[in-house]
Amino acid sequence: MKSDLSSIRTNYTKSSLDVSDTGDDPIVFFQKWFQEAVLSEVLEVNAMTLATATKDGKPNARTVLLKGITDGAFVFFTNYESKKGKELDENPKACLVFFWPELERQVRIEGGVTKIPRRESEEYFHSRPIESQVGAHSSPQSSEIPDRSYLEERFRKLRTEFKDAEIDVPPYWGGYAVKPERIEFWQGRASRLHDRIVFEIKENSGAAVWRKFRVAP
Ligand SMILES: Cc1cc2nc3c(=O)[nH]c(=O)nc-3n(C[C@H](O)[C@H](O)[C@H](O)COP(=O)(O)O)c2cc1C
Repeated sequence: MKSDLSSIRTNYTKSSLDVSDTGDDPIVFFQKWFQEAVLSEVLEVNAMTLATATKDGKPNARTVLLKGITDGAFVFFTNYESKKGKELDENPKACLVFFWPELERQVRIEGGVTKIPRRESEEYFHSRPIESQVGAHSSPQSSEIPDRSYLEERFRKLRTEFKDAEIDVPPYWGGYAVKPERIEFWQGRASRLHDRIVFEIKENSGAAVWRKFRVAP
């Protein structure tokens, strides 16, 4: 097992990335890479690892889905009372990571996190399938539950109760926006000499501007 694992490696040769390829706006460049990932039929293309930490710095990470980019911030939806919700309450900073193996690319985003306006959470909630809306009401995300039937019972009961009425957004459910302060684009290259181009927010006479540079792999 050990030797099998240690011999697994890929030599990345699909593409390259230079500072001059990325333009001046990392959000525009992210959208370009995202479209290329869609066209390449990357599986779960909008899935991203969301890393958070408690106020004492105890880290945690899990996958969530990117549901939009609004005013330059990356939006996902979740339960505000979940483990991640509690961590973001006490330490509103996060890191997001996309890995698109089909393109040998990774994007890493660091930034501050805020809850999105309630109206926008409501709009998105009501665009979801009814089953997902009932699911949000049924699941006390990240809390211990006795068994699976507890969840299924709650779902069945609420599905009947709601019938065809419009389902309210649970008060504990909504979106978060991660506003990037640093974005790194990684393109795998041969011999581990990967390309890494970083954008970082810099204050310039009171205005926030992006500075971009290459870092070593
Ligand atoms: C592909 C994928 C997509 C997911 N998308 C979401 C999502 O958008 N929102 C969410 O709350 N959980 C999502 N989850 C579940 C989370 O990874 C996690 O189990 C859940 O949010 C509880 O995390 P927490 O206990 O750290 O709060 C997804 C999981 C996978 C594997």
